[in-house]
Amino acid sequence: MTMPRPTEYNREQANFSLQRTDSVSLYQPEQAKQDDSPAWIIPFPRSQTGPMDSPAITLPPEHERAMWKLFRDFFDLAEKKRRWNLVDDIPWAECNPGLKPVVADIVETFCAVELFLPDYSSKILPKVRHSKSRTWFYANWGYEEAKHSMALNEWLLKSGSRSEEYMADMEGKVFAREWNLPHDDHLAMLVYSMVQEEATFLNYRNLRSRVGELGSDPALEKLLNYLAVDEKAHHRFFRDCLRIYLEYDRTAVIDQLKRVMHDFNMPAINDLLDESQTRLAAIRELDLFSPDIYYREVYLPILTSLGISRQEMRTPLKEKKSQS
Ligand SMILES: [Fe+2]
Ligand SMILES: [Fe+2]
Repeated sequence: MTMPRPTEYNREQANFSLQRTDSVSLYQPEQAKQDDSPAWIIPFPRSQTGPMDSPAITLPPEHERAMWKLFRDFFDLAEKKRRWNLVDDIPWAECNPGLKPVVADIVETFCAVELFLPDYSSKILPKVRHSKSRTWFYANWGYEEAKHSMALNEWLLKSGSRSEEYMADMEGKVFAREWNLPHDDHLAMLVYSMVQEEATFLNYRNLRSRVGELGSDPALEKLLNYLAVDEKAHHRFFRDCLRIYLEYDRTAVIDQLKRVMHDFNMPAINDLLDESQTRLAAIRELDLFSPDIYYREVYLPILTSLGISRQEMRTPLKEKKSQS
């Protein structure tokens, strides 16, 4: 079956808004409209069989050793410089209850996305079980992501923006949904994670600077800074893993980069929030993330840091899917 192939990333076609989107991966169009997929979270096919169930490749020992070193460097640096304490390190007494309501709307949205941790963890771990470095990384990553949702939840309560009852209801709505891996092999998921972590970093960083402009909230600004630093560290680990895979099979990595990066969408989570058009417009006005930001601050910098030319990203994909 002939399927459309993306050429280079096209900003005009990209969709990063908080609007519902029916966008799907170009690679599995026949599965795109399936059943009860939660279109509001990640607009990709729900059912994943075939390659998804195949064991991932095992890297040659020297590459796996290099990846383990990456993990140890990541972990040791985190232990030394990046750990923060949810209770003691955020000036909770300085929450600003007078911030514009749109800020709480966005924080709630981010909190909801972070709450999908059970799905994020349980679905990726079997795919990376072959790699001790990636498995140990995800164990540490899960701990850090767990703190993120707790910190955002705490701010929503302590700032008086949301009640306990409201948050319990919101959590119930999140847990009633299920997130599924958006791509069909572990290498594509490595690329996706690298991109998603950088996009998340930018969202937190940009929200932090908007909060400063909107009247300041030392508690929220501090916690957003911790989150942004964590997300950047996650991004770098995934990127550095990809550098190792590039040495091992450059063509396969570039194929997955094209597949994922030319068709990347941020989660569309607005259905969760029961928001009005006015509320959506207020969120969009903050301009935390957009196709331009993606192209300028995610797409191009990633290519540069991986040493991949735009020309390489324009070559046609290999017909055969990566078996990695
Ligand atoms: Fe996070
Ligand atoms: Fe993260």
